[in-house]
Amino acid sequence: MITLTIDGTKVTVAENTTILEAANSAGIRIPTLCYHKRLNPIGSCRICVVEVEGYANPMTACTTPVVDGINVVTNSERIQKIRKESLQLILVNHPLDCPVCDKGGECTVQNLVYEFGIETAPYQLQKVERRSVYATPLIRFWPDRCIMCLRCVAACRDIKALGAIDVSGSGYDSQVSPVNVDKCESCGECLRVCPTGALTENLSRYKGRPWMTKRVETTCTYCGCGCQMELNVLHERIIGITTRESKGTNRGSLCVKGRFGYEFINSEERLTKPLIKKDGQFHEATWDQALSLIAEKFSAIKASHGPDAIAGLASARCTNEDNYLMQKFMRAAIGTNNIDHCARL
Ligand code: FES
Repeated sequence: MITLTIDGTKVTVAENTTILEAANSAGIRIPTLCYHKRLNPIGSCRICVVEVEGYANPMTACTTPVVDGINVVTNSERIQKIRKESLQLILVNHPLDCPVCDKGGECTVQNLVYEFGIETAPYQLQKVERRSVYATPLIRFWPDRCIMCLRCVAACRDIKALGAIDVSGSGYDSQVSPVNVDKCESCGECLRVCPTGALTENLSRYKGRPWMTKRVETTCTYCGCGCQMELNVLHERIIGITTRESKGTNRGSLCVKGRFGYEFINSEERLTKPLIKKDGQFHEATWDQALSLIAEKFSAIKASHGPDAIAGLASARCTNEDNYLMQKFMRAAIGTNNIDHCARL
């Protein structure tokens, strides 16, 4: 174990822990921007700089491992000045268009700019016309808002193992670009980790601000993984899906269906009543009529061909309890072991 001092507090942590992790474990906050818990340290923003006694230059807490006996200062006047300066430099690549940005209210850059009391962007560069950019029908990339923290690139590569986006060009001309378009699954992992509004989703645009929505925790129903998600609800309608790192085995990640496949819930075309086909036409029926018809048909097949003429295919979209009932129904009510499950493919 390693013992170090952070802002006068003795902290003992395991070897290879970073200064940032050590500070977090002691409840000492160091502001971050490019750091993300699920990604290897990127070290691109320099917002997390700290002073280590005996070293002239400040160090990034998210990339620097602890050393026994070091004395770390996280919030000196010098450090605060460097952080503010770094933020002002980041604003060179980021317009202050918060009123129309979807991310307003949950943007790390916006929050830090506010925290550090930055009222103007003193550094300006001539605007660069960006080349063709990454986009899908569900995801929009706003290159002018990108601060090149590279979380999206790291998440696409390291969490989803896709590598669909990467940095192209160099210097001020560099930008996040689609490099393996075919590999993009529109899963939205990139926009989930984006700390600004550089990556936004197309479905929920202009439907409501983050602080206006009620967040309802639920389990995704698209497969049996049980990913945890939050339905963002406004005026009794779902206008988006968000996730939390701390919730569920998915740890914030979702697939394209889980993250974007919610519009069917409020769709006018959704079936809400059973339909019974008569003479080639569907007719609305009550649940009692539909269930009676099913029971009648099952009984007739069973009587004429035996129970093994019937098979049941359960669904990964159902709960364990529903699937249990399904096999129980097939075995006990129908009398067959012909029961299978779509997730066994
Ligand atoms: S958070 Fe450490 S360098 Fe960005």
